[in-house]
Amino acid sequence: MADFEHVFDSPPPGAAADWTIPQGWENYTDVEHRTWVTLYERQMAILPGRASDQFMRGLDVLDLHGGGIPDFRKMNEALQALTGWTVVAVPGLVPDEVFFDHLANRRFPAGQFIRKREQLDYIQEPDVFHDVFGHVPMLTDPTFADYMQAYGQGGARALGLGQLQNLARLYWYTVEFGLMDTPEGLRIYGAGIVSSKTESIFSLEDPSPNRLGFDLERVMRTLYRIDDFQQVYFVIPSLDSLLAETTKDFGAIYARLKDAPDLPIETILPTDKVHTRGTQAYAHAGGRFARAS
Ligand SMILES: [Fe+2]
Repeated sequence: MADFEHVFDSPPPGAAADWTIPQGWENYTDVEHRTWVTLYERQMAILPGRASDQFMRGLDVLDLHGGGIPDFRKMNEALQALTGWTVVAVPGLVPDEVFFDHLANRRFPAGQFIRKREQLDYIQEPDVFHDVFGHVPMLTDPTFADYMQAYGQGGARALGLGQLQNLARLYWYTVEFGLMDTPEGLRIYGAGIVSSKTESIFSLEDPSPNRLGFDLERVMRTLYRIDDFQQVYFVIPSLDSLLAETTKDFGAIYARLKDAPDLPIETILPTDKVHTRGTQAYAHAGGRFARAS
């Protein structure tokens, strides 16, 4: 956990019982606003034609263009009118049950802090750029908005059943690192990708990772890594199909998963729909430490 600075055992001073804090928009410095603008401009130079239409539309309707770190109060007016979601500020990672409760009530917890200038390219814990630029545009899409709420509701249930690990993989491979098939080709909708310059390109264009068709149970069995580019991305045919798949009752699935072994990241099953059979060259060359840029 060495890379995590914003981790607490209980709500830190100034936080409410649900871990929310005031965003304190007035207190961001010029340097912090400039960090947002730098990150924003870098992403906008590469995301058109790579990010999904839903994501790009979300940026537009929320008017996240330009002026520094968004003021949540303003952003929430537009977001709430569209899908009933709001963004609440939190001091860092929050406990699972708190996170699920926020999602189930259409509140997205966003880190209040922004990364330092020397962390422009890589930060492991979610800051306001990742959480707002990465996640919030998709919450303007009614189908995705429903999916996120359903995930929160399912999270509370999974916790009770001891299946959190399976459900967390679903979040990872969809909300964070999901790709979508479109008539124009694969597009990014995962927040972990769209908020990263290098992974936005890697996820779509590098020959290294596998790109496989989304299959709910298969995804729930698949290990993942949090410290580097993914070795496998799962491709959904559409947001509608994702929502339909994941609003099923997971009870029977969880029962089967109890006896199913976890799948190593590089696995390709005979039943997988293979978009790309990756070379895994990047990962085998040492991954994070092999990054040239
Ligand atoms: Fe995230």
